[in-house]
Amino acid sequence: MRLIIDTDAGIDDAQAIMMALAHPGVTVEAITCVTGNVHVDKVVPNVLTVLDVMRADVPVYRGAALPLVADWSPEVHVHGEDGLGDWKDRPPTQRHAESEHAVNALIRLANAAPGEYTLVALGPLTNIALACQLDPSFPSKIRQFVFMGGTTHAMGNTPNLTAEFNIYCDPEAAYMTLRAFPLSTMLSWETTLQHPFGWPEWNALCDTNSPAARFMKGTSGVTVDLIQSYRFNGYLLPDPLAMAVALKPDLVRASGTYYVTVELNGAYTRGQTVIDYRARSGHAPNVHVVQEVDTAGVYALYQQMLA
Ligand code: RIB
Ligand code: CA
Repeated sequence: MRLIIDTDAGIDDAQAIMMALAHPGVTVEAITCVTGNVHVDKVVPNVLTVLDVMRADVPVYRGAALPLVADWSPEVHVHGEDGLGDWKDRPPTQRHAESEHAVNALIRLANAAPGEYTLVALGPLTNIALACQLDPSFPSKIRQFVFMGGTTHAMGNTPNLTAEFNIYCDPEAAYMTLRAFPLSTMLSWETTLQHPFGWPEWNALCDTNSPAARFMKGTSGVTVDLIQSYRFNGYLLPDPLAMAVALKPDLVRASGTYYVTVELNGAYTRGQTVIDYRARSGHAPNVHVVQEVDTAGVYALYQQMLA
């Protein structure tokens, strides 16, 4: 599998990237960065640091610094000021991003190897939407597009109660992206809520004796504290679940394919993914909605990446 990852890293993004870098038979050929959890100028060094930890060499590209239309503010309460949990022992990186803009890199790579790349988006879809606008043939040259984002039953995690962060952060980009790709695979917030690691299992992973595990434990404290403050029943895995089903589609236990679009105007619902479950819209189904995942299989991917 030839993989491109678009990310707003992000603590859970970092774990998803680690999972891909450690997976046999997968080459991560580019990582494109976008503003989301934190500004893209913080996302880039976060990704470079993950490459240091995993001793991997992957070109990293800086992308969109702001959503297409929406106002933006960082999610410091979820990912810390630096986007990696403000870990005091964070090592500095000597690496640098490429000079090419992320959107140009996405288009160049797709044109250089049409039908070859799996594209996994872990943040707002700003870069992806811009690629689709700059080169309308871009979606047709991507083998599979998987994204973490959206809600399947209006249980959001943003001030708009029905909207999930990646879509809420740039609703126009999400709308344009879902319209442009003939078929996307969506890993929603509700599916995230239904598939946590239990705390004992999470702690066992963090106690793995490896630099990767020490990095993961050190950077995830902010998120763990937040999750536990909300009394969720385990460690939540939004981006890692999306990456896991891209790497191993057989981890999907239940799914459905529906027409999905994005609300752009609702006073309370802007950024909601609107799903046509009963095929009443007349639009062709465009999104493969993942509903159940083999969490034990995802856990095995974590054990692999932390070894
Ligand atoms: O809503 C969860 C998503 O928002 C994840 O991608 C997380 O990293 C944040 O970007
Ligand atoms: Ca993310």
